[in-house]
Amino acid sequence: MTTTRELQDRILELKKKNDVCILAHAYQSHDIWEVADYVGDSYGLSVQASKAPQKTVLMAGVRFMAETCKILSPDKKVLLANSMAGCPMAQEMDKDAVLRMKEENPGFATVAYINTTASLKTAVDVIVTSSSAVKIIRNMPEKDILFIPDCNLGRWVADQIPEKNFRFFNGGCPTHLRITPLEVAQARAAHPGALVLVHPECRPEVTELSDYAGSTTGIMKYAKESDAKEFIIGTESSIVQHLQFECPDKKFWLLSKQCVCHNMKMTTLVDIYNAVAGIGGEEIFLSDEVIEASRKPIDRMIELGG
Ligand code: 13P
Ligand code: SF4
Repeated sequence: MTTTRELQDRILELKKKNDVCILAHAYQSHDIWEVADYVGDSYGLSVQASKAPQKTVLMAGVRFMAETCKILSPDKKVLLANSMAGCPMAQEMDKDAVLRMKEENPGFATVAYINTTASLKTAVDVIVTSSSAVKIIRNMPEKDILFIPDCNLGRWVADQIPEKNFRFFNGGCPTHLRITPLEVAQARAAHPGALVLVHPECRPEVTELSDYAGSTTGIMKYAKESDAKEFIIGTESSIVQHLQFECPDKKFWLLSKQCVCHNMKMTTLVDIYNAVAGIGGEEIFLSDEVIEASRKPIDRMIELGG
């Protein structure tokens, strides 16, 4: 029987031999993190994709992340490790819905969360991620903002920029939306003294009850730097595992058993092996027109957020 370590060793050999860069989102499992060239949140991955020297980029994440890599590195071969891994939030709104919303709100700048399709990105002014949204929108000269598609992230951002005027689409992340205020109360009762750290994709009733709300990177940084010893984590379950590996002297609890993104969890180490071996993964193809038009709001994100 092949062990996890043996499979990882074969992946490391094959990625070198076949000139593949493996990018893993923070919500991937630890065995995948260990073979990745870069691990990060949506913003970090998108910037890293364009810097990678390898000819092939393999995305261990969901489809919109692989599309973003292709947009930023059109000359590279970009593979999505598991073709079934999509983000349900990215499917909630298409380009036509954006065009209708823009028509109904003339004069508003359109800001889209990176968790959207390449096609939708062609119709917006700027892309943001959870770790960069506040900074980018503050740096934008426009005062009136249409924030799509995640209204919870949008409201969390808007609360921090009261000088701007926001309108929202009614979208959201099904994983984070499943977390309830009751679960926060139950977790606090079970682990008194632990700090509650949540992702701003959670509903406002949950975010309001937290000690800290921030992106995946923000949550990890906060937990690592804090003097506290115990934390209740209100984001995807893998973050608990990664934090426990990185901070063995601290204790991490998952806020809710609902915090599992089944799409992120579709990718396995075997998918990574098959993709680096050249017998798996789905190659991402986008037309030149889509690449050109969707690159503009991403470049603006990098320019305003850098
Ligand atoms: P970040 O990695 O930007 O925090 O986003 C969370 C998420 O849900 C990614 O799909
Ligand atoms: Fe999409 Fe939410 Fe899963 Fe992220 S956690 S991929 S936003 S469904």
